[in-house]
Amino acid sequence: MGMKYASFNILLLLLLVMYADGRVDSLSHMDQSVMVFFTLKDLEVGNSMSIYFRKKDSSTSPRFLPRDEAEAIPFSLTELPNLLRFFSFSEDSPQAKAMEATLRECETPAIKGEIKFCATSIGSMLDFAISIIGLNSDIKIFATEHHTKSSTLFQNYTILKEPDEVLASRMVACHTMPYPYAILYCHTQETENKVFKVSLGGDNGDRVTAVAVCHMDTSQWKHDHVSFRVLGIEPGMPGVCHFFPADNFILVPEY
Ligand SMILES: *[C@@H]1O[C@H](CO)[C@@H](O)[C@H](O)[C@H]1NC(C)=O
Repeated sequence: MGMKYASFNILLLLLLVMYADGRVDSLSHMDQSVMVFFTLKDLEVGNSMSIYFRKKDSSTSPRFLPRDEAEAIPFSLTELPNLLRFFSFSEDSPQAKAMEATLRECETPAIKGEIKFCATSIGSMLDFAISIIGLNSDIKIFATEHHTKSSTLFQNYTILKEPDEVLASRMVACHTMPYPYAILYCHTQETENKVFKVSLGGDNGDRVTAVAVCHMDTSQWKHDHVSFRVLGIEPGMPGVCHFFPADNFILVPEY
């Protein structure tokens, strides 16, 4: 196990703060990693905003297991003690905490109007996507692309051109989760979402084509959802958007 999961330690540092979809508890220390939210009306050419982009780092990302291997390993909170033994992590290690948080998140029931699924392999992720999008259309994948190499994670970006709206009658969004092997938390909502590709220019010259999703109905979201606090808006306000880091992606039908 040792070498295969060695990078898990480094990953943890990045991932324990990464839950951009609403798991950060306090904004008092203004964690930069929550600076991914904006509102629909901010999407205008020339507008500038501070954005945090977690970078994809293939050397620290956990690997996908082949489907048969992944399905031979239990993936449930009740199995955590056995899993910790299997991966040789002590009960109070940060790795154990991360695994517990991921399993807990995966086992939390979806909110009303949402379908969620934690995929332990690419195959099971695709099966889920097909069950949502259907077999009648091909599936297109969108992810944020960095066109420049730089180590800057947080800076001001200007919207360089009119954002492109991606037609997305149905959409599955997948987020990587901290775990000793690759886990994708994928979900879809019955409520209306808008998907955009946004050309951004960073203050340092970085160029990014960022994928953003705007949620047109947030009425089922928890009132203390981090986005409401970051944006300083009333809970439940429609048109809450967020950028995706490069290691997340969305799947939509190809028209
Ligand atoms: C972004 O711009 C604002 C306004 O000009 C400035 O106050 C802020 O410090 C800048 N943020 C970063 C991360 O450079």
